[in-house]
Amino acid sequence: MNTVHKNNVLLHPNSQGNNLNNWLNSYGGSGLEKALDAPEQIIELLKGAGLRGLGGSGFPAWKKWQFVAEQAANPDKYLICNGNEDEPGTFKDAYLLAHSPNQVIEGALISAVANGTNRIVFYINPEQKKSLESIRNAVEQWQNSELFQRVADYLGRPLSFRVMASSGHYIGGEETAAIESVEGKFPFPRGKPPYPAVSGVHGCPTLINNVETLSNIPHILRNGVQWFKDLGKGESSGTKIYCLSGDVFYPGVYELPMGIPLSELIFTHGGGMLLEKKLKAVFTGGASSTILTPKDLDVPLDFDSVRERGSSLGTGAMIVVSEGTGIVKRVTEYVNFYAHSSCGQCPPCKTGTFYISQLLNRIDTGQASNNDLDTLINLCKILPGSGRCHLLDGAINIVDSSLSHFVDEYKSSLKY
Ligand SMILES: Cc1cc2nc3c(=O)[nH]c(=O)nc-3n(C[C@H](O)[C@H](O)[C@H](O)COP(=O)(O)O)c2cc1C
Ligand code: SF4
Repeated sequence: MNTVHKNNVLLHPNSQGNNLNNWLNSYGGSGLEKALDAPEQIIELLKGAGLRGLGGSGFPAWKKWQFVAEQAANPDKYLICNGNEDEPGTFKDAYLLAHSPNQVIEGALISAVANGTNRIVFYINPEQKKSLESIRNAVEQWQNSELFQRVADYLGRPLSFRVMASSGHYIGGEETAAIESVEGKFPFPRGKPPYPAVSGVHGCPTLINNVETLSNIPHILRNGVQWFKDLGKGESSGTKIYCLSGDVFYPGVYELPMGIPLSELIFTHGGGMLLEKKLKAVFTGGASSTILTPKDLDVPLDFDSVRERGSSLGTGAMIVVSEGTGIVKRVTEYVNFYAHSSCGQCPPCKTGTFYISQLLNRIDTGQASNNDLDTLINLCKILPGSGRCHLLDGAINIVDSSLSHFVDEYKSSLKY
């Protein structure tokens, strides 16, 4: 796999490996030291830096931290570091955890200082054996460290780490499903409210952050707000780890400034299209987002600019598709995955994703009628918002977006 360390931040060569002494001697620990020196400034710093959640939603990190900080411990507060990462085309968290777990752990301890999350759970995809091994090893070293003890003393409550393998279901990455999992149950998403910040694991206030989000935090504390802002482009702060896959020369994990144009990612860093084929589409933000097309190559890759084009930066996954690839087939594969992944609690999601997957399979194999296509289009209009979590909307997003860009491909696949 290719990796680019252009900004030397999250994929910093010195942060490689899970040896805590190496981390403390070369780069790490100072963000946490600063947090312990001025705990009341941490959330303000995150606000100033403009760090957003990097697990898909782009929700401002400081706001979630603030909600949790405002809650009383009951008797504990939890932090779930979300490393479930099962979305097609997304593979950045596994890389970070396997190669550089210390910054994730330091970010988690800074959370403990900022908002009192004394029960810290690293919730990791069970398929990612290297990630699990690496974080387990690093956690063991941290538990015996002076810094860990200083955080425990500061909190005045028991401080614990737990590394757990998630169930391996895609739905287990949804925040309330992760809470159920941590409680030892099947990952069925919960209804909201109450929100996790108020009542999460065992009824305690719970913060859920993505691995990449937490990784940024020690660096922001260590180097300051302006440094973080300057890493990005225009209004966007910091870096983003992109998972570039599909029909490009150099697929891989790329840490680049937030806000670079899509064309730079594909053609400069990704080496351009395989076999010099023409670009047809990019599944932006993973398989549950929407499609961008060649006319969007100039879009700056940041949350707001991508949203303005009707898509979403999501997890930073970019699945590149060349001319000659059937969009209907690709979308059918993704929707089959979502239909299989639906947890079944909400009838519109269970039956809706199943029905849409059946329709798509019929269209893709040339067995569908014009009525089938009309039904598909209608389902995309009536189903959004009728599930408890975002899985259903994600599945609809991708169908709807492919219909708006490539409806002729759908029509030409019809039998009658
Ligand atoms: C079906 C589904 C699966 C998800 N899977 C993940 C995941 O694997 N990792 C993740 O960080 N967020 C995932 N999310 C988003 C989480 O619900 C949550 O927003 C995120 O962990 C918050 O972290 P952040 O604020 O740092 O981005 C998923 C959401 C949905 C609806
Ligand atoms: S929307 Fe789908 S995946 Fe989400 S809770 Fe409902 S049935 Fe489960």
